[in-house]
Amino acid sequence: MSSSDMRTITVIGSGLIGRSWAMVFLSGGFSVKIYDNQPGQSAKAVTEIRKQLQELQDARMLRGQLDATQQLALLSGYEDLALALEGAFFIQESVFEQLDVKQSVFQDIERLVGSDVILSSSTSCLVPSKVFSKVQNRSRCLVSHPVNPPYYVKLVELVPHPDTAAAVMDAAHSLMTTVGQAPVRLRKEIDGFALNRVQAAVIAESWRLVQDGVISVEDIDLVMSEGLGMRYAFIGPMETMHLNAPAGLEDYMQRYGEGITRILTSFGPVPDFSGSEGAKSIVSDMCQLIPGDQQHLLARMERRDRLLMGLARLKKDH
Ligand SMILES: NC(=O)c1ccc[n+]([C@@H]2O[C@H](COP(=O)([O-])OP(=O)(O)OC[C@H]3O[C@@H](n4cnc5c(N)ncnc54)[C@H](O)[C@@H]3O)[C@@H](O)[C@H]2O)c1
Ligand SMILES: *[C@@H]1O[C@H](CO)[C@@H](O)[C@H](O)[C@H]1NC(C)=O
Repeated sequence: MSSSDMRTITVIGSGLIGRSWAMVFLSGGFSVKIYDNQPGQSAKAVTEIRKQLQELQDARMLRGQLDATQQLALLSGYEDLALALEGAFFIQESVFEQLDVKQSVFQDIERLVGSDVILSSSTSCLVPSKVFSKVQNRSRCLVSHPVNPPYYVKLVELVPHPDTAAAVMDAAHSLMTTVGQAPVRLRKEIDGFALNRVQAAVIAESWRLVQDGVISVEDIDLVMSEGLGMRYAFIGPMETMHLNAPAGLEDYMQRYGEGITRILTSFGPVPDFSGSEGAKSIVSDMCQLIPGDQQHLLARMERRDRLLMGLARLKKDH
């Protein structure tokens, strides 16, 4: 096994998230080897990344100290797993979200790398104890869960396996910070991690409010985009409360804690998200606002990414 100089990272899987990870690591000046088991796929990813780096440079949104040409020179595509892993100190897996696929990918990887190499998974919905159950040495394994698109939305949830070494969590945290992401640590694994659990709570109450006839689909989205979301791009729920009472969080809870508890006890059960009449009517209302065909959806996705780019720029300057 060739010794690593801590400058090379291998990305396994060259889809949407694998390509984004590659660009994030390139921006930090790391050599990136991107691998995909689909013939031609990693070469396609390299071509796509070249195009995106150039576009980002033209838009003055390229991250890092190196220009697009310098970053591209650090990138290489592979169809051979052993060659792709050679020299890497950190492996970021981003293959299909299928437990058996991830388990066998990590089994293959472990056979080919040295014992000090960190194995990291991008999984959104699978807990580390499942993803890494076929790995022998799980002390060097963790989930690094990104948010789409990682180039503008920088949060990375670091989730340990019960056996993960503290030094491995520290190394991943430090790497993510170095490349300009915003890592957070979970202290133990839990279904949905933190982000998707909070998101599920927001989705559930929004769904119930519409289904119960309290508010329209259009207006509940405005509650977030013109209300809560304005603050949440810069401060979280804890700081929001801390700043919303003259004497801080304790004062806030004295004033509003009872009301929050009362509201929480009035929340309904987990909604029916499909099948029911109510669910069909929510889908139909949404499609009235934004038709569900490719053309309309792609246009709105482009708008979302353009606005996220602007927001990322604003956050960088403050
Ligand atoms: N898309 C998102 O919004 C998002 C956000 C956070 C995390 N994730 C997670 O990232 C991972 C990848 O998601 P994606 O959206 O990029 O998927 P994708 O389908 O775009 O890409 C997956 C890639 O992995 C390759 N692949 C499949 N099996 C492989 C194998 N055995 N070896 C090597 N390559 C293999 C495929 O050819 C494909 O190119 C998933 O675990 C997903 O849950 C996705
Ligand atoms: C297991 O991984 C840890 C963390 O990378 C490493 O320090 C240790 O040497 C490994 N143990 C074995 C038996 O390979």
